[in-house]
Amino acid sequence: MFETDTQDVAQRAFTGDLPPEVRVEELIARAHRRYAGLDEGRLADYIPLLEQADPGWFGLSLVSVDGTEHAAGDTEVRFSIQSISKAFVFALVCEAMGHEQVHDRVGVNNTGLPFNSVIAVELNDGSPMNPMVNAGAIATTALMPGGTPAEQWEHIRSGLSRFAGRPLELDGEVYRSERKANQRNKAIGRLLESYGRLDTDPLDTVDVYTRQCSLLVTATDLAVMGATLADGGTNPRTGERVVSAEVARDTLSVLASCGMYERSGEWLFEIGLPAKSGVSGGIVAVSPGKGAVGTFSPLLDLAGNSVRGQRACAYLSRSLGLSLFASAAHPVSQKVS
Ligand code: DON
Repeated sequence: MFETDTQDVAQRAFTGDLPPEVRVEELIARAHRRYAGLDEGRLADYIPLLEQADPGWFGLSLVSVDGTEHAAGDTEVRFSIQSISKAFVFALVCEAMGHEQVHDRVGVNNTGLPFNSVIAVELNDGSPMNPMVNAGAIATTALMPGGTPAEQWEHIRSGLSRFAGRPLELDGEVYRSERKANQRNKAIGRLLESYGRLDTDPLDTVDVYTRQCSLLVTATDLAVMGATLADGGTNPRTGERVVSAEVARDTLSVLASCGMYERSGEWLFEIGLPAKSGVSGGIVAVSPGKGAVGTFSPLLDLAGNSVRGQRACAYLSRSLGLSLFASAAHPVSQKVS
């Protein structure tokens, strides 16, 4: 189960809007205070450089669809985006290729297996299954427009920057560190190639994918990127339309079913929001039409999700009424009964 401890949190019923700003500000500060002292979990170590993170880092940001930010803690610390990039690269590819193509070439069903599973590809006759696991993300990156890997990379860097509303930079050290340790992703690339699932050179595509995972972001960037998906594809800070409202909707539906890998069902049950996590400790959770929460704290549970981040998301989902599934009787039906 996802670790939550929200039994004592007053639940807010779902409405179309966030609570008043002072209340949001107060609840973000409370969530930060409540979990800052929690030191469960451990740092990721399979990408050697990630082990150098400060286990005390904890940043929380909520950006609403009007662009207002409420933040607490280490929201300016930069960290590599890792798997969270998969959500935004998927959105860019959907924008370029269309709903049908992406559905047919990548898929949208959960594998029920960990993010870097090789056996999931074998069990599904070479289908990468969905864009949020490594196989599907590699297949998605391969579909990125651009005649060369360098052009594809530039499209990704500039596209993710438009989601964030500022130019994002590559962390060269993280990229080189992961490049030395990504034999498994190369194997997945080759396996997809053997099933005829890639039209690109698999090692080139894995290299572009490794770069996209090494883009530096902050918790605030994640919240702005998520708020762009919550705002029908328009960045609420810059006013730029990054993807269409239909693509934002399609991306969020895949995040709901697959964003937290084989634990997506538990996440929806406890938190009720489309979300994506990354192994460096980030989480973005999106409440469509309202805004998004970006969290950063590098101590992870056994499934690779930030411990403080998931607790904070659960707390905020309950107290701010963010869950997609929470409702209360409409005043008219209350009057009738
Ligand atoms: O491909 C990888 O394994 C990493 N670049 C990203 C993995 C990741 O963030 C998984 N997230 N929970």
